[in-house]
Amino acid sequence: MFLVTPIARAILDAGVFSWDLGLTLINLVTPRRKVDHVTPAGHPGEGGKWPEYIAPKEGDSRCSCPGLNAMANHGILPRDGKNISFPELYSTVRGTYNFSPSFCFYVANFAARMLNKSYGKDRIDLADIDLHSDKGIEHDASLTREDIHFVKDQGKPHLPFVRELLDAASGKDTEGNMLFTAADVSRVLSKRRAESRANNPEFHMNLSHRTFSSSNSSTILTIFGSRVSDLESIFIEERLPEGWESRIREPFGLTIASLQPTVLKVAFGIDERPYAAEASSTAAAESGEPNPAT
Ligand code: HEM
Repeated sequence: MFLVTPIARAILDAGVFSWDLGLTLINLVTPRRKVDHVTPAGHPGEGGKWPEYIAPKEGDSRCSCPGLNAMANHGILPRDGKNISFPELYSTVRGTYNFSPSFCFYVANFAARMLNKSYGKDRIDLADIDLHSDKGIEHDASLTREDIHFVKDQGKPHLPFVRELLDAASGKDTEGNMLFTAADVSRVLSKRRAESRANNPEFHMNLSHRTFSSSNSSTILTIFGSRVSDLESIFIEERLPEGWESRIREPFGLTIASLQPTVLKVAFGIDERPYAAEASSTAAAESGEPNPAT
């Protein structure tokens, strides 16, 4: 058990947000990394050559986060997903995905706090991150996972959800490759929330869950560059495609501040109403009870 006083927390957060703002400004005036040179020299994945992918085996620890699981599947984090320090999370997320140092520190430190652990001294298994409560960030109506009410182990993607997500992309690049738009991501989140609300008797999403949901879904449009062909491998196998690199080329990476316009676009585009009636009539039909929506 590790306790940080609310004042120490507020000071630390203010420091991280100021640092983040500084990096956001420096990114604006510094040349971007060259294509094919985004992953730093010496870091696994340099030049698009990712360490061997090995699917998780029985007993390995995995969590609800495709980004972290992919790192374990490539051996960038321990392959068994166990005994990981918070500084290790910080540095591997930074090198693999080009999130800014402030972002990486914030999320790793947030996870430590959430789990009542010391950032500097304690270690966790990936599955520990799936704390499902008002204190945790694992929530219902995820893009790739069934709700914890139905599936206790959140370590594996639910392939029908992933397929539906991938099929929802409506954009195209100049070469005709399918791309996600923010509206696509909002639409899928809206449907997932309406369905979960109708089907899951324990459905719960507080404001922080909704914010986290819009933020982590926004990595589709930023770090992963919206590309369906890349996301297919990342979401189905939790594998980084050969030759892949983060689509963020700013030298100090994707900052908390620079992610916010995308998060807001996704969050404000979410509207469960078009899906609510169908979701509750499907739920009623499956349970054999009269449809409350009619
Ligand atoms: C220390 C770093 C991180 C922590 C603690 C973390 C934690 C989590 C957790 C708990 C969830 C589950 C939320 C839910 O219930 O849907 C999640 C989802 C997600 N994370 Fe992470 N994550 C981290 C880093 C990353 C990185 C580096 C990426 C991508 C580059 C990423 C991408 C995603 C995506 C796309 C989802 C949504 C999955 C879904 O909705 O099914 N995360 N993360």
